This record gives sequence, C-alpha cells and structure tokens, in this order.
Amino acid sequence: MKESETYDYLLGLVKKRRTIRQFKPDPVPDGYVEKIIEVARWAPSGFHTQPWEFVVVKKKEVKDAIVAALEQYAPPITNPARIPTRRSFRDAPVFILLLAEWRAKVGLPGHPEEKNARVTALYNSSLASAFLYMHLAAASLGLASQWYTAASSPDAERTIKAIVGIPEPLAIYDMMVLGYAASTPNPKEVRALDEIIHYDNCGPQDFRTDEEVIADAEKTWAWCMTQH
Ligand SMILES: Cc1cc2nc3c(=O)[nH]c(=O)nc-3n(C[C@H](O)[C@H](O)[C@H](O)COP(=O)(O)O)c2cc1C
Repeated sequence: MKESETYDYLLGLVKKRRTIRQFKPDPVPDGYVEKIIEVARWAPSGFHTQPWEFVVVKKKEVKDAIVAALEQYAPPITNPARIPTRRSFRDAPVFILLLAEWRAKVGLPGHPEEKNARVTALYNSSLASAFLYMHLAAASLGLASQWYTAASSPDAERTIKAIVGIPEPLAIYDMMVLGYAASTPNPKEVRALDEIIHYDNCGPQDFRTDEEVIADAEKTWAWCMTQH
C-alpha cells in the first residue's frame, strides 16, 4: 500500500469511529473482543510500562449488576426529548473495563512509589492511547462503541470492582460499551484546520478569545445533546 493510501485508509477509519449510545442486543462474533484487545496491546505507554488490564464482561448477570450500579451512581447523560424511543448502553452485549495497574509506576523514571501528579498524567495518557486503539479496532470490525467514563467515578468504581472482583491496587480507567449500533450518529462538526494549526512564533492574536471559546462550547454542548 502506498503512503497516501495508508493515510487515506487511516483517516477513513478515524472518521468511521463514532460514539454510539444505542446498541442492538446482537452478540459480537467470537474472537472480535480479543482482536480489539490485541490492537490495544500495541499502544504506546509511558516508559513502556503497559499499565493496563482488560476485563471483558459478557455474562448477563454480571452486566445487569454493572448496569444497576451505573444507573444508581453514574447514570448516562440523556436528552429527555429522546428517552422514550431509545435503546441504550444497557442493550449492548459486551462491556470491557480498562483497568489502570498503578503498581507498574515503579517502571517510570525515578521509580516512584507514590501516585503523584506526574504518574497520574503519564498513566492517563497511556490508558487513553490504549482505549482509543480499542475504539478504532472496534470500528475497523464494523462494531459500535461508547466510552462510559463515569464508570470510574468513586461510588460506581467501588461497586463495579466488588461485582467483578477487581483487587485494590487496580483502578477502573474507563468502560467500553461494545456491540452493534442501533442508531446512526449525526454528522460530526469539527473545528477548521486553519483555525487550530499554529506555526512557530505565536501570540494571543492567533488563538480564540474567551468569548469565542464560550460561544464554541455552547455549540458543542448543543451538538452533543442531540447525540445523547
Ligand atoms: C475522555 C472522553 C470521555 C468520554 N466520556 C463519555 C461518556 O462517559 N459517555 C459518552 O456517552 N460519551 C463519552 N465520550 C464520547 C464523546 O462525547 C464523543 O467522543 C464526542 O461527543 C465526539 O463524538 P464522536 O465520538 O462520535 O466523534 C467521551 C470521550 C472522551 C474522549
């Protein structure tokens, strides 16, 4: 494949990956979950510490218990105008918990024993890279996925860890909801390339004003709520 074709293929896959929040209950084919985690295994991580573990949840009773915990402690943000007709993450056949293995921090420079700000930043970036690889891999297999970040909020995390049996040193980074899409996402609006690229010597005039940031945030909030 020529470089331009590789780039076009990558950009196509990146555009194909969209957050889906309504899932069909149809099962994910055997082997697809392993393919997704195989891609994540090759993600970059701070000092190659690979501070991750993956818990795949497929059993109905375990999924139901996680759904109940999330509904109690970390319900999905929903647009009331859309609720009655909707499926949701509850209907997806697979959840994958991406866990942070904090003990691996001794592989970072200085071999830190405490969880300090630098460790947390490196871990969040490492785990985000693995998580994004998972979502791209899912999209490449024709599957739909959702980040369910609130699974790592304190009460939800404590409850889910107990349900699944995750020992104390490990923490939930995020939960991937995986399955087949029961909805089509709205076209995505992204900021213009010439607005976000800056070269060499920049000054405040090259960046948005406070008012522009707020106006854009109002637009993205409104856009997001059409998806929830
Ligand atoms: C760090 C992060 C956390 C997110 N958490 C959630 C979440 O908890 N629930 C959810 O439905 N979507 C979540 N999303 C998805 C974003 O809302 C979504 O990526 C964004 O609206 C752009 O839409 P797209 O993914 O379809 O391109 C998260 C995305 C990121 C990067």
